[in-house]
Amino acid sequence: MTFEINGKRFEQQPRAGQCLRTFLRELGHFGVKKGCDAGDCGACTVLLDNEPVHSCLIPAFRVEGHAVTTIEGLASEAALHPMQQAFLDAQGFQCGFCTAGMILTCASLNQAQQRDLGAALKGNICRCTGYRSIEDALNGKTNIEDAAAGDAFGRSLPAPAGPQVVRGAERYTFDTEIEGLLHIKILRSPHPHARIVSIDRSDALAVPGVHAVLTHEDAPKTLFSTARHEKDWMDPADTRMLDDVVRFIGQKVAAVVADSEGAAEEGCRRLKVQYEILPHVVDPAAAIAEGAPVIHAGKTTEHRISNVVRNIAAETHGEFGDVTKALAESAVTYEGTFQTQRVQHAALETHGGLAYVDADGVLTVRCSTQVPFLTRRALADIFDLPPDKVRVLCERVGGGFGGKQEMFVEDILALATLKTGRPVKLELTCEEQFIATSTRHPMRVTVKAGADSNGKLTALALDVLSNTGAYGNHAGPVLFHAVAESISVYNCPNKKVDGLAVYTNTVPAGAFRGYGLPQGLIAVESAIDELAGQLGIDPFEMRRRNVVKPGDPMLAPPESEYHDVLYGSYGLDQCLDLVERAMKADAPGPQLSDEWLVGDGIALSMIDTVPPAGHFADCFVSLRDDGGFDLAVGTAEFGNGTSTVHRQIAATALSTTVDQIRLKQSDTANGGHDTGAYGSSGTFVAGLATKLAAENLAAEIKAFAAQAMGADAATIVLERDHLVCDGERLPLTRIAQTARARGKTLTAHGKSEGTPRTVAFNVQGFRVAVNKGNGEVKILRSVQAADAGRVANPMQCRGQVEGGVAQSLGATLYEELVIDEGGRIVNPRFRDYHLPSFADVPRTEVYFADTYDTVGPMGAKSMSESPYNPVAPAMGNAIANATGIRFTATPFKPDRLFPALKEKFGS
Ligand code: FES
Ligand code: FES
Repeated sequence: MTFEINGKRFEQQPRAGQCLRTFLRELGHFGVKKGCDAGDCGACTVLLDNEPVHSCLIPAFRVEGHAVTTIEGLASEAALHPMQQAFLDAQGFQCGFCTAGMILTCASLNQAQQRDLGAALKGNICRCTGYRSIEDALNGKTNIEDAAAGDAFGRSLPAPAGPQVVRGAERYTFDTEIEGLLHIKILRSPHPHARIVSIDRSDALAVPGVHAVLTHEDAPKTLFSTARHEKDWMDPADTRMLDDVVRFIGQKVAAVVADSEGAAEEGCRRLKVQYEILPHVVDPAAAIAEGAPVIHAGKTTEHRISNVVRNIAAETHGEFGDVTKALAESAVTYEGTFQTQRVQHAALETHGGLAYVDADGVLTVRCSTQVPFLTRRALADIFDLPPDKVRVLCERVGGGFGGKQEMFVEDILALATLKTGRPVKLELTCEEQFIATSTRHPMRVTVKAGADSNGKLTALALDVLSNTGAYGNHAGPVLFHAVAESISVYNCPNKKVDGLAVYTNTVPAGAFRGYGLPQGLIAVESAIDELAGQLGIDPFEMRRRNVVKPGDPMLAPPESEYHDVLYGSYGLDQCLDLVERAMKADAPGPQLSDEWLVGDGIALSMIDTVPPAGHFADCFVSLRDDGGFDLAVGTAEFGNGTSTVHRQIAATALSTTVDQIRLKQSDTANGGHDTGAYGSSGTFVAGLATKLAAENLAAEIKAFAAQAMGADAATIVLERDHLVCDGERLPLTRIAQTARARGKTLTAHGKSEGTPRTVAFNVQGFRVAVNKGNGEVKILRSVQAADAGRVANPMQCRGQVEGGVAQSLGATLYEELVIDEGGRIVNPRFRDYHLPSFADVPRTEVYFADTYDTVGPMGAKSMSESPYNPVAPAMGNAIANATGIRFTATPFKPDRLFPALKEKFGS
């Protein structure tokens, strides 16, 4: 077959049934990404005769005689296409995984389409940005600025990978060719709970191209948690790579390793598995009832499971004061039970990786992870290998949101490559990501709150039932976090917490942006509004009277053993003022009929900037022979912007410009240990290590130069690519070469241990219109104020807020992973799940408090997950304000709202 790709003629025959996406990638066009493989996300967009198409839906043979343009063909040799340049200027991307497809679609829009972007971009999903920076690109807006030497911190500098991202040249996990690669496909359990009696692999092994079938008989017996934390004691050791008991539909039963994905799939189909069906339970309340099936029978508290027989993975209980007495004596009280749902991260790059044993015998896993160092440690433990015989690395990661703070695929990749002696690949499908990785923990949260007649809180109590699914990865820490800052942000003499995280035979829950706080906050922030309403106090004022202020203890029962959280800075008061002022300012709104009820709502959140119990980063900076600097950090870039911020920090400390800093990251073979990019730690912890390393190197360079020049180090000043001493300018290249001639490399180390910690704040405001006839919610105004300390990169930080609000709006208004009584997920596809698209997301006005954090690097603190947290409660409060009805279950879908609206307002 003859066709054109990017202006070049090709003659090549696709395989029978092959889609254009895989065909193009096999021809080396890695800018064509795989997201959903079902026509829903647009990551695979190419132009076919100048029309954007989803290449995953096009049979490859159909391009015969046609011209295909991939992102690699959009730019000329000399210059970027104007749309690529527009995306660079506006920085219309975060992880960048959607960007190639998005740019191709945007580049093809005519004027009429540009006037209706909601419709024009409905086939291209971005999970990171919230679409506003993409809209800026289409409007020709520039969001970036320049910086002079030593002035990088605090500037809206562009992401270093930007030029590569917009060209489709940035490499993600699978964007590499490996000779002799084998493919893994997984046979997954069709049963929610069963014992595997036998697996007959003979037919599978007879499939041409199948090299191996791996079952529990081949897997190490080590029990571990897929959750990755610095301290293993945080999670139960309840998981085996391949187990002889399956506890949810979708759990791995066997892995087939073959020459092609097709052969591996055929091998899976031919496996004969005999199951002994065990009783199952999918409801967490039923799971703790007497007589419920025991999901982890045979395990004990030694596996760090709180109560095996009652299916309790983790629990927390505590009380300060006397909540019952305080409630009885309060002027007003509120009690409500809130239910949050199961939500998927839906990162466009699915979980997966490549593994091989390198020439030095090092087991190497290149994967899509937020935690390369902790994954290496787990693999070394499971396979009983010395840590230096395991290397884990990631290139740019196509979105994580906490879902990749887990080890879902790396163990099976390692087993397959060790068993076959060949490089292997495992790339989960979008459906596998839904049914077999992790979700947000659904929680039932009962809140009891009381206040005196002056609006001072007298009692605050939370009772939580969290559904952790079949495994307890993150069960305890998420539960503890749900009931921590959500109530410690309020001064109240009587507080009580009871929480259970419960096993059920459903897909496991795990880490997800916000880490439990969104679930706890919806109950607390709704209760604050309800009390304010009863007392006739304005919601802003109610919060001002009760929130903690510098010097106040930040307390949530049971008493934490970690007392390292400080007020490094405090901007909650400013955030409340900023949102109040913005909400009160005149803003043109749409003309609405009487069917629409309009209301405002706010909510606040506080977050500790690092998880407790230690979060470590080791960073190295060295002077190169060309006068630039190499910076090695362990933390990963998945759209969180750390690769930009770390260079800004290093450049500022070294009085240079960011283009002088070359960053190497997220590779266990490079530099020291890094706990990982989670818990809002990228800027705060690894940034602090970067700052220390760069400052140490600056001192080292000055000391060396002083010695070499017979000068006083205190008189030496660094200036971009040279230093100045006694009025003389000396290039850093000379310093580096002199050092090398003396057998010395000028290098320095910085370490951060994630303590002390500080607190960041967010306040969200919404104005909504609710249609009392059908339950539709229109967002008329969205405002968020954030206290991120001194903002390291305002453009990027605004993007984190916009993206966090957008992702949270999905979970607030429509995203829901539905599980039937048999434990089966009924909507494991983007099409049925409803991710927010361009048309769904309003522009959020973003404001920053003006603070300087004394703990964080150069005054900054974290702001990646926290913008998500106050969104659902603010929306719930706005809907309640509009309708007079308190809705207590998310998502606030029209069909959920309609019955109560009908009852109150008639049809
Ligand atoms: S990968 Fe083709 S539309 Fe999602
Ligand atoms: S930048 Fe769009 S999916 Fe990450």
